[in-house]
Amino acid sequence: MSKQSEWKTSTGFILASAGSAIGLGAMWKFPYMAGIYGGGAFLLMFLIFTIFVGLPLLIMEFTVGKMGRTYTTQIYSKLTGKKWLNVIGWNGNLAVFILFGFYSVIGGWIIIYMGNVIWQILSLNTSHLTQLNFEAMISNPWLTVLGQGIFIFLTMIIVMLGVEKGLEKASKIMMPLLFIFLIIVVVKSLTLDGSIEGVRYLLQPRVEDISMEGILFALGQSFFTLSLGTTGMITYASYAPKTMTIKSSAISIVLMNILVSVLAGLAIFPALKTFGYQPQEGPGLLFKVLPLVFDKMHFGIAFYLIFLILFLFAALTSSISLLELNVSNFTKNDNTKRQPVALIASILVFLISIPATLSFGSLSGVKFGAGTIFDNMDFVVSNILMPLGALGTTLVVGQLLDKKLLQENFGRDKFKLFLPWYYLIKFVMPVVIILVFIVQLF
Ligand code: TRP
Repeated sequence: MSKQSEWKTSTGFILASAGSAIGLGAMWKFPYMAGIYGGGAFLLMFLIFTIFVGLPLLIMEFTVGKMGRTYTTQIYSKLTGKKWLNVIGWNGNLAVFILFGFYSVIGGWIIIYMGNVIWQILSLNTSHLTQLNFEAMISNPWLTVLGQGIFIFLTMIIVMLGVEKGLEKASKIMMPLLFIFLIIVVVKSLTLDGSIEGVRYLLQPRVEDISMEGILFALGQSFFTLSLGTTGMITYASYAPKTMTIKSSAISIVLMNILVSVLAGLAIFPALKTFGYQPQEGPGLLFKVLPLVFDKMHFGIAFYLIFLILFLFAALTSSISLLELNVSNFTKNDNTKRQPVALIASILVFLISIPATLSFGSLSGVKFGAGTIFDNMDFVVSNILMPLGALGTTLVVGQLLDKKLLQENFGRDKFKLFLPWYYLIKFVMPVVIILVFIVQLF
């Protein structure tokens, strides 16, 4: 996306924005959060927030992007005439910068697991999947820093070459394949002993499992998976064709995200009993459990390798857009500065990602606020910067933008949803977000 060029078709736009939105949030973070905060109770809250808060906010971001048609540190002043409001765009920029810092830790783990499988295949030792010792892996500073370095490097090269478009074309094949693979794992998982307990854990909400913390993290999870408040989705909509339909695009992205999250949960939770794990494993949940499930399959190694490639692909289509946001805002879409800016941003991200990685090893004792350094980076992004960005945008849309103009951009409105949506954004959402902030302080 070098210039403010357009996607040719609505489908192209949906694929690209879905590729960016669907990533580690749905596949890795959702199961681990659901495992800690009560399974079914967490899923229920996540669904409520995603549908009633996330969806209207996503529609809002698409509308703003479609109206503004420029990069996000410029779009707010372009729409309102008030320069200082660009601070909302910069807030998003800061959010994606920190986000990329801890995202790359997990991207690095995927690469290490891939390396392990490839090594096994090359040494012709394919009868069983040798299990990496997860705890030993995450506390090995050289290995993890190398893994995340490779992940950031791959992202940087793709952004520097400006070949994201090609990658988005590839996602036409890769994303459906990822769905299919997830379903294969789910089916295998469901055949394991005691699987029903895991299914129940994920799908059956128990009132006693609902906690204030769980509610806040479920809301943070909705923001995270839908990329809300980071201006990522505003950017995608600013390249969208005039024919783009905002509501159906937003609904498809929300549904795909929910589907992938639930499938990831159904791949993992039913397998816990067989392998003697608890849901509360934390960030390592997926990495500990899935290789064991694959090992129970025929050709498990091959399937696992393909799965990891698809998983890496999903993570890369997100990290690319994280880096791209910083690049397009700092170059103001001037392509001659693209390479140096991508390089500098990547080096800075690499630097902040090191303490994030070490918080699983030598810095694991450093705890404050939300937990380790990694937990705090995640918390600052998902529970502070993203809601703050979304709050800013709701205020701009509800208080400053022309209602008529919004309605025109909202598009055809068979079900007369514009007014309810508009008043939701104008009066309800800001109050909800501010309330959440107040609760969070205590
Ligand atoms: N939604 C992404 C995921 O689930 C993470 C994310 C948040 C993101 N904000 C973003 C990705 C902005 C790209 C751009 O993995």
